[in-house]
Amino acid sequence: MASIYIVVNLVFNILVSIFVISSSLNCSKKTFSPEKTFNSCTDLPYLRAHLHWNYNPSLKKVSIAYRSKQTPRGWIAWGINPTGIGMVGSQALVAFRYSNGSMTVYPTSITSYNPSMLPSQISFLVSNVSAEYKKNEMIIYAVVGPLENGPVVNHVWQSGNSVSSGIPQIHSTSDPHLQSMGTIDFSVQPR
Ligand SMILES: *[C@@H]1O[C@H](CO)[C@@H](O)[C@H](O)[C@H]1NC(C)=O
Ligand SMILES: *[C@@H]1O[C@H](CO)[C@@H](O)[C@H](O)[C@H]1NC(C)=O
Repeated sequence: MASIYIVVNLVFNILVSIFVISSSLNCSKKTFSPEKTFNSCTDLPYLRAHLHWNYNPSLKKVSIAYRSKQTPRGWIAWGINPTGIGMVGSQALVAFRYSNGSMTVYPTSITSYNPSMLPSQISFLVSNVSAEYKKNEMIIYAVVGPLENGPVVNHVWQSGNSVSSGIPQIHSTSDPHLQSMGTIDFSVQPR
């Protein structure tokens, strides 16, 4: 009896962990509220992050949802670097949660390795910017563009553990935080 119980329990645990792993890794399983639907998504390789988007080729605009695991006191950011690869030069959107529970999100230009992280102008038009915190994830929504150089961009993403006096504080410099960058083609639809 005991061994049957152990086997059943083991199988159950394996099934649960497979479900947990696949639901956190497979971006196409994520559902948004009906007014926010995204045709494309990719599971980003670092920081438990995912990017969802719709690209409108005639307007050269991309509607995105960037989401990442985060604690209530942390921050997340996603950006496009139109002039290079990596952090410096990125035109970013940063989001965090105030202690009263409401989220804030704003554009910020990353001009150095010690950026202000305060709201600033960025070189892209952004609209429909909002953020939410749900199920231990922060999500940034935005419409970005026109992307004058087309749908292939260098992008970066980041998360940090703390916000102090309304200013996101430096992120960890451990490996995943230094590798969270890549190239993305918004005109293709990975699944
Ligand atoms: C929460 O706090 C922020 C920052 O102080 C403020 O701007 C915002 O209006 C507050 N939200 C609510 C719902 O009170
Ligand atoms: C942006 O917001 C406006 C006003 O809420 C809405 O009409 C429009 O459909 C939104 N655009 C996109 C691409 O989501």
